[in-house]
Amino acid sequence: MAKAKTHYVCSECGGSNPKWQGQCPHCNAWNSLSETVLAESRPGNSRYQSLAAGGGVQTLASVETAEAPRMPTGAEELDRVLGGGLVRGAVVLIGGDPGIGKSTLLLQALSHMGTARKVLYVSGEESAQQIALRAQRLAVDTAPVRLLAEIQLETILATLAHEKPDVVVIDSIQTVYSDQLQSAPGSVAQVRECAAQLTRHAKTSGTTILLVGHVTKEGALAGPRVLEHIVDAVLYFEGDTHSSFRLIRAQKNRFGAVNELGVFAMTDKGLRGVSNPSALFLSQHSEPVPGTCVLVTQEGTRPLLVEIQALVDEAHAPNPKRLAVGLEQNRLALLLAVLHRHAGVACFDQDVFINAVGGVRINEPAADLAVLLAIVSSLRNRALPDKLVVFGEVGLAGEVRPVQRGQERLKEAAKLGFTRAIVPKANAPKTPIAGLRIDAVERLDQAVQALRET
Ligand code: TYD
Ligand code: MG
Repeated sequence: MAKAKTHYVCSECGGSNPKWQGQCPHCNAWNSLSETVLAESRPGNSRYQSLAAGGGVQTLASVETAEAPRMPTGAEELDRVLGGGLVRGAVVLIGGDPGIGKSTLLLQALSHMGTARKVLYVSGEESAQQIALRAQRLAVDTAPVRLLAEIQLETILATLAHEKPDVVVIDSIQTVYSDQLQSAPGSVAQVRECAAQLTRHAKTSGTTILLVGHVTKEGALAGPRVLEHIVDAVLYFEGDTHSSFRLIRAQKNRFGAVNELGVFAMTDKGLRGVSNPSALFLSQHSEPVPGTCVLVTQEGTRPLLVEIQALVDEAHAPNPKRLAVGLEQNRLALLLAVLHRHAGVACFDQDVFINAVGGVRINEPAADLAVLLAIVSSLRNRALPDKLVVFGEVGLAGEVRPVQRGQERLKEAAKLGFTRAIVPKANAPKTPIAGLRIDAVERLDQAVQALRET
């Protein structure tokens, strides 16, 4: 096959250059040129001509639509995150820390789907023997999963064209390389080109492709951001590798809602779905301890109770430490300023550490009030009332703002035996919830005051 022409394209200005240079000749940015294959455009070809004649244009109403049928993966929690299962021709990117269970989950899913469909597992990280050993551990070694240990894109594409599988796993996209580019596997240019070619194959052949992606130290998917634009869905695996729980979350999903959460437990027989995870992220204290506060967070359609822990300790350096695990670091500094200004609680001479129990990551601002009450509790060394749940967003003016689905959160808390709640006023239920005493607050100082009264 003749080598396709490549060009070096600037990631800053989009300008292209036939040779690599340290500096972009168009916008003078440094180190921004990366290699790309030039797309062949043939004005003479018939599709081009029909498009030029307006042949590709249609009205919205004339487009035939059908709800895409879903392929269940066998892992209910994964299906939930995908929005009901895999869609034909979709490309799904799954990212996560090394050793978190990406390969395990996908092998389990393939072995389930393999009974009804043709499936292929392409591995560039492990040999066929290693995969077979894992399959034995997972007790799925008799499943009709076909294996290919290969990292060259052209060979993989040729195999796909020949085998015509329904579902393919590429483990991982960073190990695949194309002959047409000179850069090393895993480089931005390679990852982008390989993902683009695989996506093109998925769209034209109707094959569903699951790509495994590595993450960087910062937790973002390694490789270019464009990877996330190319694919239909991006799922992230999270969780503490020291605990057995694993969470899977959609960051982007063209076929379903994002922020739906799937929960798994890692066992010696692979990943097992946890269908009722609401009380998973509470630690068991025999009696209430200072510095903890239970938050009701809403993950997709499911409310989840998570314990927020705070440790406030005298600082011995001029710059006190602010550390957040599982919560937003910058938001912590902001919340501490609000706490000082609007509730009169000062932490400027204290180190403040906060943590969401169980390795869960909380992005919603509904955690604000729980974080602040945990901090107040630790600072005063007084435990919050027993069986208390808290949620609410705190604004810069010291107001406590309502959050989505307040009723559902309160009902879940009541179901799990919680008896008190401090919530934003607008989230207070109109009809009382049996067994739950509710303090509705409008401002942060009212919430802090509500703690004093008990
Ligand atoms: P793996 O799927 O290889 O992770 P990734 O592909 O995301 O890098 O997961 C490997 C980890 O899971 C490893 O530390 C061992 C553990 N594990 C179990 O605890 N039980 C099992 O049945 C399997 C297969 C793996
Ligand atoms: Mg792996």
